[in-house]
Amino acid sequence: MSTVIKVEGLSVSFATPRGELKAVRDVSIELQEGESLGVVGESGSGKTVLSRSIMGLLPSTATRTGKITFQGEVISELPKDKVRDLWGTGMAMVFQDPMTALNPVRRIGDQLTESLTVRLGMSKKDAKVRAIELLERVRIPDPKSMMRKFPYQLSGGMRQRIMIAIAVSCKPEMLFADEPTTALDVTVQAQVLELISELRKEFNMAMILVTHDLGVVAGHTDKIAVMYAGDVVEYAPTRELFSNMKMPYTEALLKSIPRLETPTGTRLPVIEGRLPDPTKNEPGCPFANRCAYVTDKCRAEKPPLTDGGNGHFYRCWFPIGGAK
Ligand SMILES: Nc1ncnc2c1ncn2[C@@H]1O[C@H](COP(=O)(O)OP(=O)(O)OP(=O)(O)O)[C@@H](O)[C@H]1O
Ligand SMILES: [Mg+2]
Repeated sequence: MSTVIKVEGLSVSFATPRGELKAVRDVSIELQEGESLGVVGESGSGKTVLSRSIMGLLPSTATRTGKITFQGEVISELPKDKVRDLWGTGMAMVFQDPMTALNPVRRIGDQLTESLTVRLGMSKKDAKVRAIELLERVRIPDPKSMMRKFPYQLSGGMRQRIMIAIAVSCKPEMLFADEPTTALDVTVQAQVLELISELRKEFNMAMILVTHDLGVVAGHTDKIAVMYAGDVVEYAPTRELFSNMKMPYTEALLKSIPRLETPTGTRLPVIEGRLPDPTKNEPGCPFANRCAYVTDKCRAEKPPLTDGGNGHFYRCWFPIGGAK
């Protein structure tokens, strides 16, 4: 197996009127060919900024430091247009809201064949044949008539399938899916996630799946990075994370997942309190004021990322079950 992506000490901050906002802090992750990583955490924890910064999709107000190696090439040093050359064939992205990612005034067929003619140099005729195959593959009924439709004529689930077809059309080594199903209703969510998982295996793509729902990543990823206030606070193979959870924050996230047997209308426990202000650098553990197990030490000193063995890392002075 070869390493597809290696991120070392990645930090991202934004210049804002309120000062420097630290969105991602010293994050390191690595993915092998075909491997999938779930990135979870509450809103504002830095999941989107992390994945967009790897793809070179940050606004000009952002400053990024750290090293990103993609397929053996250090891409963090490359100019933006060279990183863009990787889009489609190297890395592709499925966004949360396909309506904003698709062009509303162009037919589905044109949008799908464009990536094939531009990125892969296919002829228009071949691209059309391939586009229909792709639509079949993402289980769009009657693909030929779908080619002539506009995005607004489709349901949210169908639009997301189209986005997925476009994303995998050039067989990228790596797929980013940022909350790909949040805008969809629950039954469609499950189908779309299943489709993404199937295609990942079929094309042997590495994948980063971003979500705020720990339950979603459980069945679809090989390992998990839990983010809190810009830090990766727990990083482990999926099975290890669920059998040997170390972080009080991860535990709190897990408790906030709706379960199938939960009657609708039941209020879920939410994590009390809020994320710290990302423009301030308070001492101590950023989760301290919300943590059920907080001590004086937690308020005074930020815990380092600790290697707990079995590929399991965590940032806590008093991990659940004790340190190794
Ligand atoms: N363009 C920007 N300019 C300034 N701050 C930004 C910008 N984009 C993101 N941020 C800030 O960076 C932090 C991380 O944001 P990010 O969008 O990565 O969170 P997230 O984990 O993806 O949240 P969500 O679950 O809501 O999508 C937040 O404090 C956010 O306000
Ligand atoms: Mg996000």
